[in-house]
Amino acid sequence: MKPVKVGVLGLGTVGGGAVNVLTRNAAEIARRAGREIIITRASAKDLSKPRICSTRGIIVSSDPMDVINDPDIDIVLELIGGAGPVKDMVLQAIANGKHVVTANKSLLALHGNEIFATAREQGVIVAFEAAVAGSIPIIKAIREGLSGNQIEWLAGIINGTGNFILTEMREKGRDFFAVLAEAQALGYAEADPTFDVEGIDAAHKLTLLASIAFGIPLQFEKVYTEGITKIARIDVEYAEQLGYRIKHLGIARKTADGIELRVHPTLIPEGRLIANVNGVMNAVLVKGDAAGPSLYYGAGAGAEPTASAVVADVIDVARALTSDPENRVPHLAFQANQLDDIPVLAADCFKTAYYLRLLAEDKPGVLADVTRILAHHHISIEALIQKQPLNDQTSVPVIMLTQVTAEKEMNAAIAEIEALPTVTGQINRIRLETLG
Ligand code: HSE
Repeated sequence: MKPVKVGVLGLGTVGGGAVNVLTRNAAEIARRAGREIIITRASAKDLSKPRICSTRGIIVSSDPMDVINDPDIDIVLELIGGAGPVKDMVLQAIANGKHVVTANKSLLALHGNEIFATAREQGVIVAFEAAVAGSIPIIKAIREGLSGNQIEWLAGIINGTGNFILTEMREKGRDFFAVLAEAQALGYAEADPTFDVEGIDAAHKLTLLASIAFGIPLQFEKVYTEGITKIARIDVEYAEQLGYRIKHLGIARKTADGIELRVHPTLIPEGRLIANVNGVMNAVLVKGDAAGPSLYYGAGAGAEPTASAVVADVIDVARALTSDPENRVPHLAFQANQLDDIPVLAADCFKTAYYLRLLAEDKPGVLADVTRILAHHHISIEALIQKQPLNDQTSVPVIMLTQVTAEKEMNAAIAEIEALPTVTGQINRIRLETLG
C-alpha cells in the first residue's frame, strides 16, 4: 500500500515530540498501521529557532498553507495550539479533504461543533486524543471502551501544570511562581499560563470529555471555572489533618435536573487513588453504570507523552483511510444526529459537600450562631474543629466539613455567617467530593 503522507503544523514541544516519535518508531508504527507513515512537510513560525527534533527529509516552511494546500498530504497534524488563526487553517485543511489530528483543546472546546460538522460534510476525520490528559487514551476509553455504559459522572486531574504546582507546594513548600516557571521551562504550561492556573485549560478539556461522555454538544461557556491561585497553604494543611487532599478537578455529572460541568479545587479523601496523583501526572475517574468506576492515569503534558496520543490518532486515521465515513467511530462518540441538548446547570444548582474555614471570636455563643444559620439552610455539619489562634490574633480559625447540600443554600448561609459581627473577613470555601 502507498505510504500515508503527513504534514505537521508547528514544530514546538508537541510538534517536535510528534516528529521524534513518528520517526523513531516508524517501523513499529508501519506494522500497526499496515502501511508506512511518513512526514513530508512541516511549518514553523520561526525557521531559525532551535528544535527538539530533526527535520531531515522534511520540507519546512514558515507558511502553514504550504502544508495545508499540498495535494499529496493525507493527514495534517495541527500542533500550533490556540483558537485564533488556527481555526481557519483547520477548516481549510478539512475543505481540502485532509484528515486532521490535533492536540488543540481550546480550538475544539470553542469551535468544535462547527469543525466536526464541517468534517462530517467533507467525510474526513478530526482526531483529538492528545487534546485531553496527554498520554492517557481517555478519549478512546470513553468513546469506545465504555460505549456500552451510561456514564454517570467523571472527575479528572486534567491539567498537569496545576497538579505539578499543587504537588510541589504541598510536598516541598515551594513558591507558586517558582514552580510555575519550572513548568513553563519543561514545556508543560500553556502559552498563556493563566489558562493552567485559572482552570481554563481544564475547562476546555472537561468540555470535550463531557460531550463524549453524555452525547451533548460542546459547551465551554457553560463550564463553571475556578483556578488554584486562591488555595492557601493553611487549607492544604487543615485538609490533610482531616484526611483529605486538595486537587484541582474537572467534574462532569449527570443529574436528574441536568448536567454539572465544573472545574475547581476540591477536597478528596486521601485514601482515593486519584488523591495520590502527583506532579505532572493526570488521572480521570469515570463512573459507568455497567463498568462501575474505572481510573485512567498517566503523564498529562510534555513532548513525548502528548506525542504518544498524537501518533495513536495518526495510526487510527491511517487504518480508517479506506473505510466508509458512515462506519467510522463518530467524532463525539454519539451519532451526530443523536446529540442531546440536556441542560447544563448553573453553579447555584450544584450539589456537593464543603470545607469551610472562617475566623471567629473565641467566646460563648459564636459557634452556636454559625451552626444555627447552617441548620436554617438545611446544611448538615460532618465535622467541626476549632484551631489555636494564628499569630497574635484573638479570633480563632474554625474549620467545618458539611454534608452534601445545594450550592444555593450554601451561598446564602455564607453571606449570613460573614455578616455576623463575631466573624472576621470572608469564609474560605472549598468544595468536597468523596468520589465514592
Ligand atoms: N498546559 C497543559 C497542562 C498541557 O499543563 O496540562 C497539556 O494539555
